[in-house]
Amino acid sequence: MAAITLEQVVKRFGRDEVIHGIDLRIAHDEFVVLVGPSGCGKSTTLRMIAGLEDLSDGTIRIGDQVVNDLPPRKRNLAMVFQNYALYPHMNVRQNLGFGLTIAGEPKEVVAERVQDTAALLGLSDLLDRLPAELSGGERQRVAMGRALVRRPEAFLFDEPLSNLDAKLRVQMRGEIKRLHTAVRTTIVYVTHDQVEAMTLADRIVVMQDGRIEQIGQPMTLFDHPVNTFVAGFIGTPPMNLIPARIAGDEIAFNDGQQIPLPDRFTALVTEGQSVIFGLRPDHLCPDKKQRETGTSLVEIPLKVHMIEPHGAEMLLHARLAGQPVLGKMYAPRPVAPGDQLTFQLALDKIHLFDAASGRSVTAR
Ligand SMILES: Nc1ncnc2c1ncn2[C@@H]1O[C@H](COP(=O)(O)OP(=O)(O)OP(=O)(O)O)[C@@H](O)[C@H]1O
Ligand SMILES: [Mg+2]
Repeated sequence: MAAITLEQVVKRFGRDEVIHGIDLRIAHDEFVVLVGPSGCGKSTTLRMIAGLEDLSDGTIRIGDQVVNDLPPRKRNLAMVFQNYALYPHMNVRQNLGFGLTIAGEPKEVVAERVQDTAALLGLSDLLDRLPAELSGGERQRVAMGRALVRRPEAFLFDEPLSNLDAKLRVQMRGEIKRLHTAVRTTIVYVTHDQVEAMTLADRIVVMQDGRIEQIGQPMTLFDHPVNTFVAGFIGTPPMNLIPARIAGDEIAFNDGQQIPLPDRFTALVTEGQSVIFGLRPDHLCPDKKQRETGTSLVEIPLKVHMIEPHGAEMLLHARLAGQPVLGKMYAPRPVAPGDQLTFQLALDKIHLFDAASGRSVTAR
């Protein structure tokens, strides 16, 4: 297990710069998830850590060692891809031990490490089974076990679950999280799925266009996104983001509607400033749920034009100042498209971003 450090890492393909100098410190026992839209540079970053891509500039360290010029096999990292084919004709014990055996480790060492690894991953009772006799989750555990017996410094995962169906994904997610809890090894995990990122990560790194937008614990990113990109990317459904203007003690929308400017923002904005008003659908509700939590609310009438039932709750599509907004109803009752409802808007939950820079007015 080793810390991994990236300093001012740049990657160019020919003249095309795709990673623009990123800094990242990953602790030796940390589960870090790189997340961002397609093409933002997640895989390239992971491949540079693995040694599968050269750096154009900057430094990568594993532990205290600069590894810029170290070939992949000398970095002692385990890379787990989507496809984790096991040897079909070998049982679990043989699959786990194979790498060590061909590396010339003595039989007793192989047997001991296989046993330890199997115990750690809950595979002890399955050692004599063939891969075909395992569930998907068990197969993945064997694949991770094969990497783990080598005692790698870190695991690198690139979208390991992206070709699985929804149910198996959730199961595998659990397996990976359990593995990390059991071994507390360094994990760098790439996904474009923010739900996966939220559920797995100690810390999430949100990337866009070859840059890091924000690094933080899942709930920190959710509660305190530093800019509109992170606000819109983390959380499902995404945060409502609506242009507005500061007018005295009010936040004024383009259609003339106003809501009070909460005190906590007064010192952070200027009169007339163009802002982006942000509010999660969870805090725009036409029922009383929010009232019970003691937040201060303002009422705002909105016309609903589409309804999405989600079982226990209902998503309501409406418009505010000509922009689409989503609200949430926690105690679903009959609503029809075209209905005008009084929504309660939780003032404590508002985010404000500067319209020009996209940065949160509360971000330092
Ligand atoms: N070998 C290459 N040659 C030229 N450009 C490349 C190469 N590999 C990646 N790129 C470019 O670098 C950028 C980052 O690609 P990367 O594969 O890291 O994205 P990603 O975040 O992993 O995306 P995805 O979610 O689609 O896997 C993209 O613009 C891509 O087109
Ligand atoms: Mg990728």
